Amino acid sequence: MKHIVVLTGAGMSAESGIKTFRDHNGLWNDYRVEEVATPEAWARNMDLVIDFYNQRRKQLLAVEPNPAHYALARLEERFKVSVVTQNIDDLHERAGSTNVLHLHGELKKVRSSRNPDKVYELEGWELKKGDTCPEGSQLRPHVVWFGEPVPNIVPAAEICSMADMLLIIGTSMNVYPAAGLFAYTPGEIPKYYIDPGARDTDPIPGLHLIADKAGKAVPALVEKLLTGGSA
Ligand code: APR
Repeated sequence: MKHIVVLTGAGMSAESGIKTFRDHNGLWNDYRVEEVATPEAWARNMDLVIDFYNQRRKQLLAVEPNPAHYALARLEERFKVSVVTQNIDDLHERAGSTNVLHLHGELKKVRSSRNPDKVYELEGWELKKGDTCPEGSQLRPHVVWFGEPVPNIVPAAEICSMADMLLIIGTSMNVYPAAGLFAYTPGEIPKYYIDPGARDTDPIPGLHLIADKAGKAVPALVEKLLTGGSA
């Protein structure tokens, strides 16, 4: 069975109503990374960081997977599929994808601020200052902040090295180490980049570019792959 590896970013969930980060109306226009998504921000202003992720979580509970998420789940009818996502939402899982690796954490989970291995599901959307794990330390979002290690990059690189086809969807490929995963895929396999901003000048050579929104382009590509037509 052919193994398709799918690397997704914020654009995958844009049509579900979740803002991307670096588009003109993206989240990093409304917030400064240094104030909400670094260990220093957590140390300096825990209330602001907690509120930022509470708002994201509240929104996530109100949105649904879009046609691109559902199409990727259907790929499993005929292929082994590994989704490696930079997204912290759970829309791939809710659409039915069964093999999803989150590089940057998961919004619906929290963890001990002392021991990164103590991870818990959060009921509802609200984490509060004073919410502690059973060992007594403050719970924090289970999210990889800027300046923190990305432990799942190791299994992600391994997965990429075993790909027969690579799909990159809705990511600016600006953030490392995720953007470097491309280098781990075998050189000769077909590679597609679906993103309205995809253009020949992109820093990644050797890609088939599909400059369109995920909600339209992904179902079309999946249909071709499932019916055996050349993609
Ligand atoms: N369909 C497909 N792609 C889209 C769509 C859409 N409907 N709308 C926007 N895009 C594309 C944009 O053209 C852009 O290339 O999604 C991409 C979003 O890029 P970023 O905002 O940089 O998001 P991402 O690449 O996921 O960022 C990586 O940065 O801040 C961190 O941790 C955060 O995981 C995130 C990481």
